[in-house]
Amino acid sequence: MSYVRVATLGELAEDTPKRVEIDGTPVSLVRTEGEVFAINDICSHANVSLSEGEVEDCSIECWLHGSSFDLRTGKPSGLPATRPVPVYPVKIEGEGPEASVFVSVTQES
Ligand code: FES
Repeated sequence: MSYVRVATLGELAEDTPKRVEIDGTPVSLVRTEGEVFAINDICSHANVSLSEGEVEDCSIECWLHGSSFDLRTGKPSGLPATRPVPVYPVKIEGEGPEASVFVSVTQES
């Protein structure tokens, strides 16, 4: 499983998603509740960027029709989306704001 360095911890504001591309895969990075999560940035209902949505209760909400996806599992909490969005493993190396954030998109977590 190959991890790619995508950001420093200091670049990720709490509850503010950051969109990155990893080997052509759009990923939304979310720092919330003391952890960093990586979820595919495209809603499973239509081609909408999840990083433009709101983060709450360890979920990210699609702004278009309001389905929320659990950042730990990618599962939608309600309609209209019915399929999960892929989530990816995250690794953090170092301490403080300069710590490096790595994500692997070669395997879903
Ligand atoms: S496009 Fe995301 S819920 Fe419809």
